[in-house]
Amino acid sequence: MSDHELRVSKIRDGTVIDHVEGGQALNVLAILGIDGSEGLGVSVGMNVPSDRLGRKDLVKVEGRELSQSEVDVLSLIAPEATINIVREFEVVEKNRVTRPDRVAGVLSCPNRNCITNADEPVETRFEVVSDGVRCDYCSTVLRSDIADHIDV
Ligand code: CTP
Ligand code: ZN
Repeated sequence: MSDHELRVSKIRDGTVIDHVEGGQALNVLAILGIDGSEGLGVSVGMNVPSDRLGRKDLVKVEGRELSQSEVDVLSLIAPEATINIVREFEVVEKNRVTRPDRVAGVLSCPNRNCITNADEPVETRFEVVSDGVRCDYCSTVLRSDIADHIDV
């Protein structure tokens, strides 16, 4: 790749979340709980040209790897994403995200009357459906605003 094509610098150690649907980069940061106050090096590319997607977003986080529950939630907003683990400037691991069948303990239910929002020791549980995630307890479907209901 020539220099003028390289929009965001390479990183030494960390995670590159690539092939994120255009417009979702800030939601990726929300899912990872990153707002800059952690002091991690973070680069964000938005609407970068991509062979596969036309336009894509990407997020590079230095010095941080992702938990499985973070990857599960990422897959809901960025189903085409690739998670690249970088060590000493080399990509040592590359994984496509896969949509889980269910997510537990990572999203809050948008329904204020849901048992999971009462003061009860109930873990949230959602089934992943084609257009979003459905609460096991009240059947409310959370669609576009998943990133606003992250609980991790
Ligand atoms: N990357 C990085 N820092 C590194 C190595 C890679 O930021 N030290 C980034 C690249 O810029 C790219 C992603 O990590 O966005 C994946 O790198 P690589 O596998 O080398 O690129 P591609 O082969 O283009 O990836 P893919 O086949 O997944 O599109
Ligand atoms: Zn609910």
